[in-house]
Amino acid sequence: MKFNLSEKGLKISPSVTLEITAKAKSMKAKGIDVISFGAGEPDFNTPENIRKEGIRAIEEGYTKYTPASGINELKEAVCKKFKEDNKLEYTPENIVISSGAKHSIYNALMAILNPGDEVIIGVPYWVSYPELIKIAGGNPVFIHTKEEHDFKFTVDDLEKVRTENTKAIILNSPSNPTGSIYYKEELEKIADWAVENKIFVISDEIYEKLVYDGEHVSIASINEDIKNLTIVINGMSKAYSMPGWRIGYLAAHKDIAKVISNIQSHTTSNPCSISQYASVVGLNGDQSAVYEMKEQFEKRRDYMVDTINSIKGLSCRKPKGAFYIMVNISQLKGTVVKGNTINGSLDLAKVLLDEGQVAVIPGIGFGDDNYIRLSYATSMENIEKGLRRIKDILE
Ligand SMILES: Cc1ncc(COP(=O)(O)O)c(C=O)c1O
Repeated sequence: MKFNLSEKGLKISPSVTLEITAKAKSMKAKGIDVISFGAGEPDFNTPENIRKEGIRAIEEGYTKYTPASGINELKEAVCKKFKEDNKLEYTPENIVISSGAKHSIYNALMAILNPGDEVIIGVPYWVSYPELIKIAGGNPVFIHTKEEHDFKFTVDDLEKVRTENTKAIILNSPSNPTGSIYYKEELEKIADWAVENKIFVISDEIYEKLVYDGEHVSIASINEDIKNLTIVINGMSKAYSMPGWRIGYLAAHKDIAKVISNIQSHTTSNPCSISQYASVVGLNGDQSAVYEMKEQFEKRRDYMVDTINSIKGLSCRKPKGAFYIMVNISQLKGTVVKGNTINGSLDLAKVLLDEGQVAVIPGIGFGDDNYIRLSYATSMENIEKGLRRIKDILE
C-alpha cells in the first residue's frame, strides 16, 4: 500500500545509534554474549535518594497534571543550579522543564525557527541535531571540524557558512560524540560573533558534570548580550543517571521561555509529575553519586584511550568530557577484515558485531565515516573484554 505521508516526516532518518543498540540487544536476548560500546546512558542506577523520592511522590498522590512548564520547586532548584554551577542568574520565568533534553532542544528550535531558517552545527554532530532542525522547518548547515582541532569550530569557520538565513548555532560542550570541550576564550569569540550578527545559540550542556580535564563554561555566562540570545539546555539523564525518567530543562530570555511553554502546553503538556519531584531531590540533595560516577568514567576513559591506541589500525585522542571516544578508522579503509572489505564505518561496525559480538556506533551516523564511536558507559570488565575482541579481530 502506498501512503500519502508528510514530506517533513519522510525526510527524517531513523537514529543510527538506537538501531545498532537495538540489534545488539536482540542478539543478547537470543543468548549471544554481545559486548556493547553503544550505550548513550550511564550504566549506574539512579541514586537512591532520587528513587525514594519518586516512590514518595507516587504514594502521596503527586500524580496529577502540573503546570505545563514544570513545578515551581523544580524551576527554583534549576535556578539554584545555574547560579551555583554556571554563575547564571535566572528566575522561574526563564525556565521550562520538559520531557528530556532532547525535548527541550526540539521546543527551542520550534520556538525560534521559521521555514528556511538555517542552523549551523559542527560535524561530527549528535545524531538528533540535523533531524530536530528539519522537524522544526529549518535547514541544518554543517561545519566539518578536524580531529587535530579537537573537533571544534571557530568564528572563521562560522563566518564561512553564515548567510542572511542563519538563525542559530548549536554548541555542544562537552560533546557527544567527540568529548571535546570549548574553552572560555573560544566561547568569548563565538559569543561576540553571535551578538554582532544577532544569531541565537542553543547551548547543549547535558554532559556538563562529566568534564575530566579543564572546566565547563556556559557561553551564556560570558555577558548579558549573549545570555539574552542563548537557550541553555541541560537535564537529569546523564548527570544523575536518570535517562528513563525523562526530565530535561532549558533557560532562556523570558519572552522565548513563554513561547516555548505555550508550545509545550499544546503538545506534551507537563513532563512526568513524579520525575519532576524526584529531580528536585536530585538537584538539591547530596551530590556525591555524581562525583563517584565521574570518577569511574575517568578511569575507564584513561584505560580505553591507551588500549585503543595500542591496536593496529585504530587511533584516538583523549576526550576531555562526556563518555564517548571517537576512534579514527581511516587506516583500515580499503583493507580486508575477516573476508570483508572495509569501505567505511558501517562495514567495520558490521564485522565487529557479526564476527566479534562487539557493538560500536558507525561514525556515519554523526556525519563522519572515518570514525566509530565507543562509549565507556559500561563496566571495566566489559571494556577489557570488548577491546580484546576488537584487537583479536583487527590483528
Ligand atoms: C548531546 C546530547 N544532547 C541531548 C541528549 C538528550 O538527553 P535526554 O535523555 O535528556 O533527552 C543526549 C542524549 O544522548 C545527548 O547526547
